[in-house]
Amino acid sequence: MSRLVIVSNRVGIPDGTARAGGLEVAIRPALKKSGGVWFGWSGKVTDDTPEPAKTVVKEDVAYVTVDLQKDDYEEFYNGFANRVLWPILHYRLDLAEFNRRDLSGYFRVNEFFADNLASVLRPDDVIWVHDYHLMPLARALRERGHKNKIGFFIHIPFPPPEFLTALPNHERLIPALGHYDLVGFQTETDANNFSRYLSTEINLRRLGNDSFEYDGRVVRAGVFPVGVETEAFAKLARRAMDTPFVRDVVESLSGRAMIIGVDRLDYSKGIPDRMNAFERFLTNFPDWHNAVTYLQITPRSRSDIQEYADIARQVGETVGRINGNFGEASWTPLRYINKAHSRTALAGLYRAARVGLVTPLRDGMNLVAKEYVAAQDPDDPGVLVLSRFAGAARECTAALLVNPYDHEGVAIAIDRALSMSLRERRQRHAVNYKALLQNDLSQWAERFLETLDQPPVTVRQSIRAAICR
Ligand code: F6P
Repeated sequence: MSRLVIVSNRVGIPDGTARAGGLEVAIRPALKKSGGVWFGWSGKVTDDTPEPAKTVVKEDVAYVTVDLQKDDYEEFYNGFANRVLWPILHYRLDLAEFNRRDLSGYFRVNEFFADNLASVLRPDDVIWVHDYHLMPLARALRERGHKNKIGFFIHIPFPPPEFLTALPNHERLIPALGHYDLVGFQTETDANNFSRYLSTEINLRRLGNDSFEYDGRVVRAGVFPVGVETEAFAKLARRAMDTPFVRDVVESLSGRAMIIGVDRLDYSKGIPDRMNAFERFLTNFPDWHNAVTYLQITPRSRSDIQEYADIARQVGETVGRINGNFGEASWTPLRYINKAHSRTALAGLYRAARVGLVTPLRDGMNLVAKEYVAAQDPDDPGVLVLSRFAGAARECTAALLVNPYDHEGVAIAIDRALSMSLRERRQRHAVNYKALLQNDLSQWAERFLETLDQPPVTVRQSIRAAICR
């Protein structure tokens, strides 16, 4: 069997620290099962020439990491990846700040990754590259003579060509995805947007519905929605209820119903809109005063970027306003916490919460939504209020689906969730839980890697078969 080499910007070395991000949640179990290599950035920034890659081996996985130089970190990570690609891929053209220096930094770091990978790679390794930081990596590897099977999965949304073409130099970047053998997306919409870009913007020849000819090779597109480890997470949540931390939180509610939100501090997550909706809920449904507590856990993220500092300030002000206007000496309506929590702690909090409020303005999948469902007690489940603009909405169809821009609509959904009969809660939960089981994380990597392994012609049938399985 070929060895699996995962490449991503962040590497999830298991060190007991709580970190936020869906990518790590998805990859770690997949790699744990097969063993292999996980290559990427160490998270360290240096003023000097970076040292050679470092390797740490834990439970059959070799974690190989490289440091980034200060300029690389600025131009690649803070610059092109997070100030240009992130907003554009999340449909936020208004927030993109393009400059040519950052673009060349982005390509330079991809070349640097390719150079460092050379000492790690064997000819029959299967390489699986993740996310928007590394879109041109396959091209850099091919230029260095690597003929391996290389797949790419993008964890975040992939917008229509009308958005992509607003990116200066898009014709240097997006077609570079053609050097992968398989490009995977979270939803059918994302995959269709990619296909439409290839056929309408760069006139690639379509070989089948999902395949295109590019530079003498075949590139395929497929849909592989990321799942969660449903049963394991459910078990974790059951156990977590008995931990002192969760017991303390539940006790501190003094019998009030809890609403929970958990997100990285990112403008795509719609946190200010969500809080405004909560404010509207408190205004329109005063019977809930002193009877409900909204806990928002929001670890800080990408703090060197202005837009992230702006959102931090905006959220802080909104929290202050809501608690100032509605709070009482003995009741804080909205608890806002920036500290990252362990998976166990989150699992227990999800289970203890009557409502899971997951309202991103745009999200590739959103595993918090799925974990919230997995964590519920099936006999007395809470209700998921979910943005229709999260990939998870395609599967969690029995959630209360909302438009996060419609604050009044979200307020009504919160009231409905809190007032819902046990019978309806159970029915909705059963439908969502079944959807989670049908697309468990255990099958995600398998499906992707099986598809990558197949000759292009059978790909379409295999994706169909996998989805119907
Ligand atoms: O899901 C998108 C993503 O960029 C992941 O790659 C990462 O796990 C998460 O967001 C956190 O972002 P960052 O690595 O910038 O802290």
